[in-house]
Amino acid sequence: MTKLRIRAALSSDVGLLAEIDRACFREDIAFGEIEFAHYVTAPCAVTWIAEHDGGPFGFAIAAFERLHRAATLITLDVLPGYRRARIGSTLLSACEVSLAKQGISELDLQVDTSNAPALAFYAHHGFARRRLLRNYYGIGTDAYLMQKTLEGDQTNSGLSF
Ligand SMILES: CC(C)(COP(=O)(O)OP(=O)(O)OC[C@H]1O[C@@H](n2cnc3c(N)ncnc32)[C@H](O)[C@@H]1OP(=O)(O)O)[C@@H](O)C(=O)NCCC(=O)NCCS
Repeated sequence: MTKLRIRAALSSDVGLLAEIDRACFREDIAFGEIEFAHYVTAPCAVTWIAEHDGGPFGFAIAAFERLHRAATLITLDVLPGYRRARIGSTLLSACEVSLAKQGISELDLQVDTSNAPALAFYAHHGFARRRLLRNYYGIGTDAYLMQKTLEGDQTNSGLSF
């Protein structure tokens, strides 16, 4: 793989984001271009893309609310062929650094209770299960609400973007 780059998403990336999301999630829960167009342009959201010379292969979106110093990780996607290579970790760190710069101290997310890789990933990154959200993804598909407190000083994350 050529060198990994992390960059902010542009409006022109919306189609690619939807394509990656369809490769990572079931059709009925994958986001569409309308949602991605909203997050990429929203002033209260950050969208980071991981790419190499062959193009994007992962991304993360977090939406934040300055008043409550809180944010939600909307989605984090790494294409199947690129997993377990710290791409997801790098994207999550990029979100955490930019959220901390906005004064955000709490980050939460919802994750399917049967998504073992994601549960392991988020536990690895210090998220704790706070609540069971029954039928969150449709009848019979529950989610956990997970949450972590962001460290005030993330300037030593080693990330440059
Ligand atoms: C969850 C996801 C983003 C992880 O991305 P990734 O780039 O593979 O993760 P990383 O390589 O950064 O993993 C960091 C650590 O998380 C844990 N982890 C990640 N994937 C794991 C898996 N499949 N099984 C067990 N632990 C896992 C490990 O502790 C790993 O460290 P290690 O490789 O040194 O053991 C990726 O699997 C994915 O895109 N899944 C489909 C979409 C999804 O479910 N997104 C989250 C839903 S909210």
